[in-house]
Amino acid sequence: MNVLTFDSNEKLNEAGANIITGLIQTNPRAVLGLATGGTPVGIYEQVVGDYRRGLVSFKNVRTFNLDEYVNLSVDHPESYHSYMNKHLFSHIDLPAANAHIPNGNAEDLEAECRSYDERIEDAGQIDLQLLGIGHNGHIGFNEPAHALIKGTHIVELAEETRKANARFFDAIDDVPKQALTMGVGTILKAKMILLIVRGVDKAEIVRRALTGPITTDCPASLLQTHPHLIVLLDQEAGSLL
Ligand code: F6R
Repeated sequence: MNVLTFDSNEKLNEAGANIITGLIQTNPRAVLGLATGGTPVGIYEQVVGDYRRGLVSFKNVRTFNLDEYVNLSVDHPESYHSYMNKHLFSHIDLPAANAHIPNGNAEDLEAECRSYDERIEDAGQIDLQLLGIGHNGHIGFNEPAHALIKGTHIVELAEETRKANARFFDAIDDVPKQALTMGVGTILKAKMILLIVRGVDKAEIVRRALTGPITTDCPASLLQTHPHLIVLLDQEAGSLL
C-alpha cells in the first residue's frame, strides 16, 4: 500500500489526475472503474484539463461506475448518470457506448446486476478502480455487514449513508433507499485501486480502514489485502495515521 498525504486539495487533485491520465497514456484501451460523490470532483476537473491540453484521449477507454440509485430517473440532477455527465463525460471524447453505469430503473434489477457483471467480465479486468469511502467504511455502496457480496447487487442504503448524501438533495426523504452497487469481489479484482479521502470527518474511518482489523464491519479494510493500492489523503483525513 502506498499512502500519500497532501497539504492542499490542488496537489491531491493533480496527483490523482496524473495517475489516471498516466495510465491511459500508457494504455489507451484502459478499463476504468469510476466513483461519484464529493471526493472525486476535483480529480475529474483536472482530468478534463489534461484532456483539453491534449495530454490524453478517451476514445478507446471503457468505464464502469461503481453504483447508481434505484428508482431515481437518470435525468434527476442527483442521479449518478447526471453526475458523470456533468463532471466528466460531457467534457471528454469517451464514446457514450463505452461508459457503463448500472441502470437503477431497470424493470428487472436482478437481471441488470447480472448483465452489469457480464459487461465488466467482457471488458476484461478493470485496470484502475477509483474509490471514495463512506464514514462507515463503505466502498461503492457495500455497507458494513456480517457478509459481503462479490458481484453487483441491490443494496439497502445505511441510514448514515442516506444522511450523508442528503446534502445533495432537498430533504433526507428524497434520498433513495436502495442502490445497485458493484460488489467487493469485483472491486478487489481491479489491477490497481486508487482510494481518495478528504476531510477530518473521515480521519477515524481512514485509520480503521488502513490500520485496523480486516473485517466486513468496515468493508474498506479489505483493501489492505490488495497488492496495488494507492491512497491519496489530505492532511486532515490522514491525521490519525
Ligand atoms: C460513490 C461511492 C461511495 C462514495 C462515498 C463517499 O460512487 O461509491 O462509496 O465514494 O460515499 O462519498 P463522498 O465522496 O461524497 O464523501
